[in-house]
Amino acid sequence: MKSNQSNIKKAKKYLDKNYCIGVPTETVYGLAANAYKNSAVKKIYNLKKRPKNNPLIVHYHDIDSLKKDCLINDNFIKLYKKFSPGPITYVLQLKKNSKISKYVTNNKKSLAVRFPKHTIFKNLLKQLDYPLAAPSANITTKVSAVKAKDVKEEFGNKIKYILDGGTCAIGIESTIVNLTAKPTILRLGGLDISKIQKALGFKMNISTNPKKKIAPGQSRLHYSPGIPLRMNVTKPKNNEAFILIKKKKTKLKSYFYLTSKSNLDEAAKNLYSCLRKIKNKGYKSIAVEKIPNIGLGKTINDRLRRASKY
Ligand code: TXA
Ligand code: MG
Repeated sequence: MKSNQSNIKKAKKYLDKNYCIGVPTETVYGLAANAYKNSAVKKIYNLKKRPKNNPLIVHYHDIDSLKKDCLINDNFIKLYKKFSPGPITYVLQLKKNSKISKYVTNNKKSLAVRFPKHTIFKNLLKQLDYPLAAPSANITTKVSAVKAKDVKEEFGNKIKYILDGGTCAIGIESTIVNLTAKPTILRLGGLDISKIQKALGFKMNISTNPKKKIAPGQSRLHYSPGIPLRMNVTKPKNNEAFILIKKKKTKLKSYFYLTSKSNLDEAAKNLYSCLRKIKNKGYKSIAVEKIPNIGLGKTINDRLRRASKY
């Protein structure tokens, strides 16, 4: 459904009845439900086929609504003022009297929270008296959805409603920062970590290593297009789709460009659509040329590494 005021109202109706719906965010589409209701949150896990021990991100309209559920601290305030709403998720301590469903956190004492920037999603959140738990709107381990039609491709008629907010502007999930102890990066994402470090005034450890994972979603097999993928390739094999960021003289149907001018933000934005397109065209494997490990290139390489564990 295209997102006008009356459709936002319809979306609210479904959410009030404890259904899950597809929602646009500036990062990727989310599969949203009332974060205070056990029965609503359980539906998210079932639809996504998500392991119950992988907690969800909860989306708030603003800091005042968050304060009911979480304890905040100075580092949070600093980052919130600079980067929210936007593609950053904070892991904070849950308040004892919070109404967040225990299924959201898997009984943990921390909660991952985010303030989305997408106008339609913000509009929707403003009209609700509960926050929305929303993981990425894809079946677990698969590629995230960046268009309403991708959400439809993932869930078909199993969900009742998708708010269409166009193509996601950032196209890759939020960066996750743990603020319950000494700040660390738990997931690389749509906000360049050098900007976060600059705002905090110190360097942070990156603990996205699946062996030491705090977030089960950092697991190996993730963001998988469902076919083998190789990185840092200079020459693709016959019949292999080739993903590039720099224009080549040879023009082949099997060449897919993430960006026209080696712009890594643009490349991140196009990555998931490109993987989806290649899979849907029937290719059996993917080769990717070397992506510079700077700025959002780091996030792209993180996703490709996990996708390559297929
Ligand atoms: O951009 C995004 O973050 C998107 C949009 C829809 O907001 N959401 C998203 O959600 O990517 P999801 O569920 O696909 O990824 C959430 C990640 C998982 O890796 C999960 O393990 C981690 O956040 N996470 C959730 N709660 C956590 C917690 N309390 N402590 C540490 N990690 C947590
Ligand atoms: Mg996800």
